[in-house]
Amino acid sequence: MLTGKNILLGISGGIAAYKTPHLVRLLKKSGADVQVMATDSALKFVSELSLATVSNRSVLTDIFTADTEGERTRHISLGEWADALVIAPATANTLAKLAGGLCDDMLSISLITLRPGKPVLLVPAMDGYMYDSPSVQRNLSVLKQQGCRVLEPESGPLASGQCGLGRMPEPETIFEALAEMLAAPEPSALSGKTVVVTAGPTREKIDGVRYLSNYSSGKMGFAIAAEAARRGATVHLVSGPVTLPTPPGVQRHDAESAVEMLEAARPLFADCDLFIGAAAVADYRPETPVEGKIKKHDAEMELRLVRNPDILAEFSTNRKPGQLAVGFALETAGGIDYARRKLTDKKLDLVAFNIYDGTTSGFEVDTNVLTLLDRDGAITELPLLSKEEAAERLLDAIELLLPR
Ligand SMILES: Cc1cc2nc3c(=O)[nH]c(=O)nc-3n(C[C@H](O)[C@H](O)[C@H](O)COP(=O)(O)O)c2cc1C
Repeated sequence: MLTGKNILLGISGGIAAYKTPHLVRLLKKSGADVQVMATDSALKFVSELSLATVSNRSVLTDIFTADTEGERTRHISLGEWADALVIAPATANTLAKLAGGLCDDMLSISLITLRPGKPVLLVPAMDGYMYDSPSVQRNLSVLKQQGCRVLEPESGPLASGQCGLGRMPEPETIFEALAEMLAAPEPSALSGKTVVVTAGPTREKIDGVRYLSNYSSGKMGFAIAAEAARRGATVHLVSGPVTLPTPPGVQRHDAESAVEMLEAARPLFADCDLFIGAAAVADYRPETPVEGKIKKHDAEMELRLVRNPDILAEFSTNRKPGQLAVGFALETAGGIDYARRKLTDKKLDLVAFNIYDGTTSGFEVDTNVLTLLDRDGAITELPLLSKEEAAERLLDAIELLLPR
């Protein structure tokens, strides 16, 4: 299955490292060449001799130990050699290093030197309390945003004596996840298409130092843009003010206000096959933003608001036959009727309805629960998913609506 594939296997210092010689054997048996990189701590849990024997290569740990000319820059050349990088188990410590971009050993430097677009599979394994800690979750979120795939730990008895989430999946499961990532992608209906995605909030100026906005983080729109690019589309991402890195292969256009977002998006309308309005565009803006800072003279202050342009509606009503328009409808409760109305009023092909509950779905968080309503009346309720997975399912549904 993996004949001719070069796999970098990073092993960090968790108890589950004892399972890794078996993972190496599975990879080798399927035809892959495996280069093991272990941290110093990992070698306290699994023997270097076992790993070197099953992989038929020396185990790499330190960047500076190479003694022959050609090997001195192996930390760089391995990034070119590899078809994929797997880190199993990934300790809390190693995840922190990777998320922070540290590179002081062969394992951590490999993530930085790996060529763009090559799959990375992280397999965290640790005590359940460690796994749930805000720092581990934040680091995983950063790494996911960089395009790494995370194989979630399983529940069961842990080395700490507890029973819960944190166990490393068996080597067979890790092998299957990697094989799936390396399999030739199914030809996507989005390949060769041009997609415009709007993402993030807008800021509507009140005065020189204040604005009206909302809690949108841009994560959903950025995940959609990343996934569309992965499927071979030319992707333009028109983004409001967010703190997210631009996904690989995506052309980004930054805007601040709704009016600016429309100005950035409008020139892209004519040549796109698909427009996805995932931005939380403010419906209203202050009529006359004040120069400088408004002083607090009076007990009350009136702010007169005027309607902002509707970017999605402008695209939808002026589009050419065959161009698809997709929107998001966010409510704080109930509200599927509003989503249905949005679908028909704006003549959209699909609306993704989501509830903002502040914890698992809607703005800011890394997960979402989408209900997809399409122009043919089909309703698909998706479960709680990471925004990356939700983006995949949304694009799967959109692909079915694209003209053949
Ligand atoms: C017995 C024992 C088991 C450990 N198991 C884990 C583990 O499963 N996951 C983890 O994140 N850290 C675990 N640790 C802590 C790591 O070994 C420690 O954080 C180390 O610095 C990790 O280094 P590395 O990331 O460079 O391999 C364990 C430590 C001990 C003493």
